[in-house]
Amino acid sequence: MMPNKLNSNKIPLLLTVVITVITAVTATGDYVRPPPRKTLHFPWDSKLSSQPQQVHISLAGDKHIRVTWTTSDSSSPSLVEYGTSPGEYTYRGHGDTTSYSYLLYNSGTIHHTVIGPLDHNTVYYYRCGGQGPELSFKTPPSELPVTFAVAGDLGQTGWTKSTLDHIDLCEYDLHLLPGDLSYADYIQSRWDTWGNLVQPLASARPWMVTQGNHEKENIPFFKDGFESFNARWKMPYEESGSTSNLYYSFEVAGAHVVMLGSYTDYDENSDQYNWLKADLSSVDREKTPWLLALFHVPWYNSNNAHQGEGDKMMEAMEPLLYAAGVDIVFAGHVHAYERTKRVYNGKSDPCGAVHVTIGDGGNKEGLQSKYKDPSPEWSVFREASFGHGELKLVNSTHAFWSWHRNDDDEPVRSDEVWITSLTSSQCVAKEREEARETFWLP
Ligand SMILES: [Fe+2]
Repeated sequence: MMPNKLNSNKIPLLLTVVITVITAVTATGDYVRPPPRKTLHFPWDSKLSSQPQQVHISLAGDKHIRVTWTTSDSSSPSLVEYGTSPGEYTYRGHGDTTSYSYLLYNSGTIHHTVIGPLDHNTVYYYRCGGQGPELSFKTPPSELPVTFAVAGDLGQTGWTKSTLDHIDLCEYDLHLLPGDLSYADYIQSRWDTWGNLVQPLASARPWMVTQGNHEKENIPFFKDGFESFNARWKMPYEESGSTSNLYYSFEVAGAHVVMLGSYTDYDENSDQYNWLKADLSSVDREKTPWLLALFHVPWYNSNNAHQGEGDKMMEAMEPLLYAAGVDIVFAGHVHAYERTKRVYNGKSDPCGAVHVTIGDGGNKEGLQSKYKDPSPEWSVFREASFGHGELKLVNSTHAFWSWHRNDDDEPVRSDEVWITSLTSSQCVAKEREEARETFWLP
């Protein structure tokens, strides 16, 4: 009898398997990435038509919070009752409603109610529409330190749930989301399921979001873009002097944060550009020593995915951000994580911003794992894994950034760095001073 030997037909198959495993392991050191997870199933759950759903909160100017929720019943009042003890609602706020139709879909009644003035760093108990359930949120502190949770491109898969669970374990003050929220992609009921998926977190801490390509949902000659996003996720654009929900700014503790739109005009003659120029000129770095910016399409990206998509916006707006001394930029879009050195004009620059791509929240499209080789000199850390980030602005000079990879069901801190603020480093690059004079001096 012949000795037991490998069938020659199986050798190519075996080689392929071995090479695939080696590639997977060497791509990110010894880390073996867990497999994709499916879109979550949301069984039909009948609720009273007046019951508040999809509750989320956002900052709405100094000491004020906007509470947003949806009801099926259009006559349900836009009332928020709140107080600092459970069940004792000392204060009341009234707001207004909106709704929209999209092909055969009619949204519920979307309520927006701004409440305040509120004390800083205080837990408030509240209920919407004159009925339960009672929810609670904590307002951000008035001064540093302040902590942001950061995750973009969330969607609604098993990995999204894992990311949200990990963020929930973190002590943070507000969530920053650089675009691509629900991945509804024209199927409007997915906005509703996503709103309920994020409610436990988004009703407890302010969620400050900007839009991505998955929020567009435009239909040529029939539907303008961002209709669902604007109706459901109203941000403080009026409070920050903007005329569009697609770009705005806010201040919290010692940070001024600009939220920009990658898919609305950004050239020098655009409303967004002129608003940004005016907004940045009003920043008081004594009051807000940290200056942050968020938008969807990254400007510094060494992943093969979405190469060059942010170039035009970068060309138009990077000089403004540089002149203003932006410390950190967060973007999404690429489903992976990457952190750069301080950069400007395509190369390392000690007076530029640290750019972080964090489009790895867990959406249905999966990870983007192919990178340019060799890595650019400005890229410090890059990895295609799901996860979230945490930014703690410790004081006016130092911040601690960490990225937490979703390793199966455990968050694992996989990248971390201390960042020194530009104001404390007294960065006075000649180019930056020239840029400042160009933009803001007569
Ligand atoms: Fe995107």
